[in-house]
Parts: sequence; C-alpha cells; structure tokens
Amino acid sequence: MIDFTRKTGLPPEQEGYARRVAALAREIYGETPKACVVTFGCQQNVSDSERIKGILIAMGYRLTENQQEAHFILFNTCAVREHAEDRVYGNIGRTKLIKQENPKKIVAVCGCMAQRQSVADKIKNSYPYVDLVFGTQGRHRLPEWIYSRLAGGGRRFELGMEDGVPENLPVARDGKLRGWLPIMYGCDNFCTYCIVPYVRGRERSRTSAAILDEAREMIAAGFKEITLLGQNVNSYGKGLEEDINFAELLRRVCAIEGDFRVRFMTSHPKDCTKELIDVIRDNPKISRHLHLPFQSGSDRILKQMNRRYTRARYLELIAYVKEQIPDVALTSDVIVGFPGETYEDFAQTLSLIREVRFDSLFTFIYSPREGTPAAALPDPVSREEKGKWFDELLRTQEVIGKENIRRRIGTTCRVLCDGKATAEGWLSGHTPGTAVAEFEGEESLIGQFVEVELTGFDNAYQGKVIEQ
Ligand code: SAH
Ligand code: SF4
Ligand code: F3S
Repeated sequence: MIDFTRKTGLPPEQEGYARRVAALAREIYGETPKACVVTFGCQQNVSDSERIKGILIAMGYRLTENQQEAHFILFNTCAVREHAEDRVYGNIGRTKLIKQENPKKIVAVCGCMAQRQSVADKIKNSYPYVDLVFGTQGRHRLPEWIYSRLAGGGRRFELGMEDGVPENLPVARDGKLRGWLPIMYGCDNFCTYCIVPYVRGRERSRTSAAILDEAREMIAAGFKEITLLGQNVNSYGKGLEEDINFAELLRRVCAIEGDFRVRFMTSHPKDCTKELIDVIRDNPKISRHLHLPFQSGSDRILKQMNRRYTRARYLELIAYVKEQIPDVALTSDVIVGFPGETYEDFAQTLSLIREVRFDSLFTFIYSPREGTPAAALPDPVSREEKGKWFDELLRTQEVIGKENIRRRIGTTCRVLCDGKATAEGWLSGHTPGTAVAEFEGEESLIGQFVEVELTGFDNAYQGKVIEQ
C-alpha cells in the first residue's frame, strides 16, 4: 500500500529524481524543457493525464500542446475498442521523425493500452524510438524513469500493477470551472466484452477524507462543477475501512459549503439504488443527469455480457428515476453486434430506447478484445450487417433526441456560464443535464450560474437570462 504522508507533492523518494531531471533536462536541451501529453479514451484517462501533468510540472517541465516543440511526448492510451488502439499506433509512428531530428527527446506511452503485455511487446520490437512504456499505475515514479533515460539508461517497460491508491500527488487541471475528481480506480465487474478490468486492475476506492479534501480544494480554487469519476461509482466504498457507500459520499460532497454543482459517472444499473436516486432528488447541487449504460435491451445478451441485471430491472429503475426527478436528462451506452446477437435481440435494444427516450446515446459496434471471454464466442453476423443495425439505432435515437429537445424548449434551467459563444455578445454554458445553452449577456457572467429560459435550438439551445 502506498502511503504518502505529504499533503501534496511528490513522494519523498521521487523528489531527488525530480530535482535532477529539472537540472539535467535544462542542460541537455539548453532551455526549459517542454512536455506534451496526448490523451485518448475516457474521462478517467483525462483525469489521469491531469495528474501526470502535475508531476511533469513538478519536474520543471512546461506544458505544450505542440508535439514538435516538446522534449517529452506522452501518449496516454485507451484499449476499449480496436479503433482506439489503431489511432494510437498512428500517433506513435509519427514521432519517429521528431526523434530523428533530436534523439534526446523522450517519447513515452502509458495508460490502458500500454498496460497490455502484447502491446508493450509490440512497441518494444516495432517502435524502437519509444523510450518509456508504463501502464495505468505507477505514474508517481515518472521522475525516476525520466531521469534514468536522460542519464543514458536503457528503454523502460514498467507494467507493474500496484496495490492501493497514490494520494496527494500534484494535479494540473485542464479547466478552471469544471473539473474531474476520481473517487475510485479499476473495475471488478468483468463484463465479458470489456478490457477495462484487465488493464485497470481491481476496484480501489479512495478514502472519503481524501475525496472531500480534494473537492474542498477545487471549490476554494473557484471550480463550479465537479464530476466524480469511477468505472462503477455505485460500488464506491467496497474494501474501505470506513462504512460508506456512494449515496453517502454524494451527500457529504454536497454538504461542502459553496455554490457548485456535482456530477458523477459511470453508474452501473446492477448497483444503482433507489437511495442514490433519492439523494439526487433531494440535493439541488447534484446535476439532473443520470448516465446509466444499458448496453443491450435483450435479456439473453445481457446475460452473456455478464451485466447482472435484466431489461425489466433496468426499466424499473428508469421509471423510478423519472417519477422522482421529472426533468432528469438520461444518457446511456449501447453495444450493437455482441457475438451471437440476432436481429430479434437488437430489436429489443431498439424497443428499450423507444421506451426510455434517452436524451443522447453513446453507441458502439462490438469490438473483440483479445483475452476477454466474448472474444472467444462465435460471431456469425457480418460487420456490414452490424453496420446496418447500427445505422437503424442512430436514426431511431436521432428522432427521440430531437423530440426531447423540443420538449425542453420553454423550460427554465440553471446554466453554468463557462465562456463566450461564437456570436458577438453571446455567452455559452452547460445546463444541469447534458446540453449546451447560448444566451446574450455580459462577460462578467462567465464563471457564474445563471437562470436561463430555453427559447430555441440551433446546434445548441438558445435562451435568455431571466435572473442574475
Ligand atoms: N464503466 C463504464 C464504461 C466503460 S467503457 C460502464 O460500465 O458503463 C465505455 C463503454 O464502451 C461501455 O459502456 C461500452 O458500451 C463500450 N465498450 C466497452 N467494451 C467494448 C467493446 N469491446 N466493444 C464495443 N464497445 C465496448
Ligand atoms: Fe467494463 Fe463492465 Fe467494468 Fe464498465 S462495468 S468498465 S463495461 S467491465
Ligand atoms: Fe479506454 Fe481505459 Fe477508459 S480502456 S475507456 S481509457 S478506462
């Protein structure tokens, strides 16, 4: 178990390395070294990258978005679908030239894809200009790894999975108003199609004290929206010494003083309780949005996916959510073409989305992931046929999405104004659901919550401020 006693900063044994990196990098490059972190995949990765950037800054790097000018380039990767992996290889390939121009630059690959031994082996053999590969854990050792490479040491492949949750590392957040707050890492669910449990390891919850401290820090720093992150936030608390569940954690976050909004993702329907829905209903600080992936509307497929809920249980939960929180925005993830799925199964998915009427869907064609149980199942339906089903799903959801938009026009909601819109004098912000709203207003409203009446829709909601 890692136990960092410092409030924030690097673990003591890494601090010396960080100082040496700062001095050596300056000497080698002849200027303040710059680092570019390129992130693929989900919000967990975005949040991990913010923590990696914090460590890079602590080593004296300045951040840049320009790979060409960076002395340290890191790809934080995603393995969830094949397409995600292909994109990463393309990106790594392009760094070859950068390294040819200056072999002293460091190229690194980390994250979910890098955690897979087969990927690390491929990089080792086919991408000799990659200096460092590490997985989803161990990033607090970056100073040591970078120092060793700068000092002439060999390429490093660090795939160790550690027990516990490193706390109190520095964070360089991407935004100033809306921020991520990881509450747990890993996943124990082993849905049969999914690579995440293999690359992210077992579920580990952060202590409520660590989470609440970080939330307070964010609010004190001016953040107005905090999204609590985990692969399955509903099982938060499992394995902790304290007796706490996710609903209670939410209550405690909401009890922090200040004007801010709380979001969370992702919820798993098997662990989503009525208690949780009641907490959302009773706490105005919690956004009126539930992202509840159903994956398939067919019980037969849900069983093969090892999702451990039924269509009926899912619909019952949704009915309760709508009854308790009538203005809720509902979103979900869905997979088309799981091995052995028939058109009849798929038709059940279509009927479920017609019944629930989601605001939006994240839709995926099944992608076999080596090492997962589903990848070994017979998969007789052609990619082309799955493509047709997928298009049918998109068309169905498009109609429902538009109807939902129309239904919300005329209503009023609390928008977090977070910037200027493209039109002169117009501002842009996020609704308590999932939408963006634009309205006329003074720039001084940026960073504040404003009551907006939604009057129309044109790519985003159009509205007018009714109260300040
Ligand atoms: N932990 C979250 C989501 C993790 S991955 C959850 O359980 O809902 C995000 C989404 O990617 C999943 O919800 C699923 O819809 C999709 N996904 C995961 N593995 C996939 C695969 N092998 N093929 C296609 N889509 C996949
Ligand atoms: Fe993957 Fe299932 Fe875990 Fe989500 S809950 S990360 S889909 S195994
Ligand atoms: Fe991808 Fe890893 Fe997230 S596989 S979806 S980046 S947890």
